[in-house]
Amino acid sequence: MIEVENLTKRYGRTTAVDGISFRVRKGEILGFLGPNGAGKTTTMRILTGYLPPTEGTARVAGYDVFEAPIEVKKRVGYIPETPPLYPDMEVDEFLDFCAKIKGIPGPSRKGKIDEAVDKTRVGDVRGRLIGRLSKGYRQRVGLAQAILNNPDVLILDEPTAGLDPKQIIETRELIKGLGGDHTIVLSTHILPEVSMTCGRVVIINKGKVVAEDTPENLTRRLRGAGALRVDVRGEATAAAEAVRSVPGVVSVRPRPESAGVATLEVEAEPGRDVRPDIARAVVSRGLDLLALHQVGMSLEEIFLHLTTTDAARAEAPPAAPRSAEVTA
Ligand SMILES: Nc1ncnc2c1ncn2[C@@H]1O[C@H](COP(=O)(O)OP(=O)(O)O)[C@@H](O)[C@H]1O
Ligand SMILES: [Mg+2]
Repeated sequence: MIEVENLTKRYGRTTAVDGISFRVRKGEILGFLGPNGAGKTTTMRILTGYLPPTEGTARVAGYDVFEAPIEVKKRVGYIPETPPLYPDMEVDEFLDFCAKIKGIPGPSRKGKIDEAVDKTRVGDVRGRLIGRLSKGYRQRVGLAQAILNNPDVLILDEPTAGLDPKQIIETRELIKGLGGDHTIVLSTHILPEVSMTCGRVVIINKGKVVAEDTPENLTRRLRGAGALRVDVRGEATAAAEAVRSVPGVVSVRPRPESAGVATLEVEAEPGRDVRPDIARAVVSRGLDLLALHQVGMSLEEIFLHLTTTDAARAEAPPAAPRSAEVTA
């Protein structure tokens, strides 16, 4: 449904998108993951026919975005990062206005609006002013607008940004429900987001694709990565020695002591939970264990990890399955 081939976009001397290629099959939900500035929005604007690429091609529903942007726009529903909603319009009025712009003929307009309202569950706010709605509802009105003409493809740029946790869950479920009927590309800079919504993930960093995989495989590749932080009251050398004695601990890096508290950064073998043994080792040596926690990796670290350790990891024995979430 979407074929991106060697796509490049330069703004003057800035290369925002640098030769990326990927495909999205019909009905698939693809997560487009990357930190801020990675080139997500630029790619999505090209896919919607709003921005011409500098090099390479993108085809959506069989049409080249550069040669046939009008045909592409007819088949794509797009929610930009900040959806252009009209605060002084009522929801119904706004959707009617959008339906007219999209060229939906009068007789079928009401039916299409009802359908979109139903699918995005905004029925209870149809008569309300958009400016008075919560951010979650506004996002859903944006989604309703995007699906009015039942487009083959939905392009959603950071659809959960700025929502509260409850709204994020609702929006995720809504998007999941739209998959199948629509082919969806959604961008995000939050890793757990794609695990919960997408069947496949393309990760970009600095305009380049650094990984492409299922969320399950990505989680497996990242498992055991990250580190533990151990705070012990006492002397750093003694604390480090205690932790080093624990089987499965690969490395211990003491940070400078402060106010009599030693902080250790500990790396363990992938897939091995060494926390109980660390706790016992510290306490049995008469030291006070103040804190022991898993440090999640930042997205930057994840990218570094995915791009630098894949070869090493491919040779490691597979770790036992564990349903650990990777925090970003
Ligand atoms: N209109 C523009 N003019 C110049 N540089 C831009 C423009 N839009 C984006 N960029 C630059 O391109 C890079 C990618 O931006 P963007 O596609 O918005 O990334 P993302 O959506 O992943 O945060 C950034 O370095 C950004 O500063
Ligand atoms: Mg963006």
